[in-house]
Amino acid sequence: MVLTRIDWVRDHCHLLRAISTEFGRTRPFQGLTIGTGIHLEAKTVALILTLRDGGARLVCTGNLNTTQPDAVERLRAEGVTVIGGPTKDPERRGSYLDEVLTARPDLILDNGGDLFTRYLDRPYQGLLGGTEETTSGRMRLEPLRERLRRPILVVNDSPIKQFAENDHAVGQSSLESFLRLTNRTTNGEQVTVFGYGACGRGVAANFRGAYARVSVVEVDPVTRLRAHLDGLSTPPRDVAVAEADVIITVTGPVPRAIDTAIATSYLDRKYPHPRGLRPANPRNLQGYRSNPRVS
Ligand SMILES: NC(=O)c1ccc[n+]([C@@H]2O[C@H](COP(=O)([O-])OP(=O)(O)OC[C@H]3O[C@@H](n4cnc5c(N)ncnc54)[C@H](O)[C@@H]3O)[C@@H](O)[C@H]2O)c1
Repeated sequence: MVLTRIDWVRDHCHLLRAISTEFGRTRPFQGLTIGTGIHLEAKTVALILTLRDGGARLVCTGNLNTTQPDAVERLRAEGVTVIGGPTKDPERRGSYLDEVLTARPDLILDNGGDLFTRYLDRPYQGLLGGTEETTSGRMRLEPLRERLRRPILVVNDSPIKQFAENDHAVGQSSLESFLRLTNRTTNGEQVTVFGYGACGRGVAANFRGAYARVSVVEVDPVTRLRAHLDGLSTPPRDVAVAEADVIITVTGPVPRAIDTAIATSYLDRKYPHPRGLRPANPRNLQGYRSNPRVS
């Protein structure tokens, strides 16, 4: 038998495997439907199959841009209902989320607050609560607390998640993604990191470890002092942006951490393009991939 990547990952999720064995005996989710809007990739296949082993009926869809076809295929082969597939289209994903809610899940696993906010537009009897993965999702759902009136466990608040994922894994995967997507090296590049929370610290440390020159822009003075004492430069925002070769925002959903005017002038300066090639929306960097410096 050929061992797939998903088998390999599943074999190495030791805690989930132990929980699966226990769930096989205790079946805590027997008779319950769990709806998910989390990333669908190898590790979450292991998570979803663990919940299935606990007796749950799963109705899943993925997130924008991240759904991996082999994960979808594997879940379907295991009898899990997966709505839709990989998509970059927010509207299409919205329709997938609505279809998950049509199954009236008893519990929701959310990532970014999309399922819970859509639930408020079309409530149904029986939702017990669920989980929200991210800081961004917590910030979005907190003002809706009175309307939701259900326990929602914020996975990001777990101390283990804070250091294992936010401090370490996010920075490492950001660096890995940067290298893979841009096909550039980081050596000697001026990288500006907006936000020096758990994730920002990891991003800054990883890029510094990859021989980039790293500066930090941070609104909180105490946190900014921390960045300074960690040996990073902390110039004023406009100076940092003007000097940057690469800007990474790790602030959470704070609107306009870098406003459009700064982003536009930064992109014009860094990546001058013949008329017509520059994307109308500076937040859409797709067009810049054709630039020889980045592609
Ligand atoms: N696996 C993942 O992809 C993953 C995991 C965890 C968190 N996240 C996301 O990463 C982001 C950051 O998470 P975190 O846990 O580090 O949050 P955090 O709250 O610990 O840190 C955010 C920092 O940004 C600073 N900040 C806010 N607005 C700013 C601005 N306009 N300019 C400069 N600094 C500003 C804040 O003062 C704070 O220090 C969130 O969007 C979160 O959802 C992603």
